[in-house]
Amino acid sequence: MSTPHDPPPLIALDAIPDGGFAEVEAMVEGDAESVILHREGDQVRAWFNVCPHAGRRLDWAPGQFLKSKEGLLVCAVHGASFELRSGECVAGPCRGESLRAVEVVVRDGDVVLDVVLRSP
Ligand code: FES
Repeated sequence: MSTPHDPPPLIALDAIPDGGFAEVEAMVEGDAESVILHREGDQVRAWFNVCPHAGRRLDWAPGQFLKSKEGLLVCAVHGASFELRSGECVAGPCRGESLRAVEVVVRDGDVVLDVVLRSP
């Protein structure tokens, strides 16, 4: 059940293909940010859509992400490959660095930012 202080949903869980990705704009810490969402069943992980290699977006077109046959998220710019649990780059030009995670939760079938909002 949502309350007036809950953040608005980012996207419906069902709008993200299972095993796939979506991209949303979200207000994070006061700034509009592009966010990568990855769904695995009822779980969703999220990261800023900023590659640690050269700071570019990872999608080749808005919301279109590459996934390798090994199940890695591949940056469309220079091919850095990221593990989908930790967000760590395991191959490519920024190996050892990580995507910056965004905390999200699934609530009532929607993906929402997991932020603690103070009551006024
Ligand atoms: S910007 Fe992502 S691999 Fe270079």
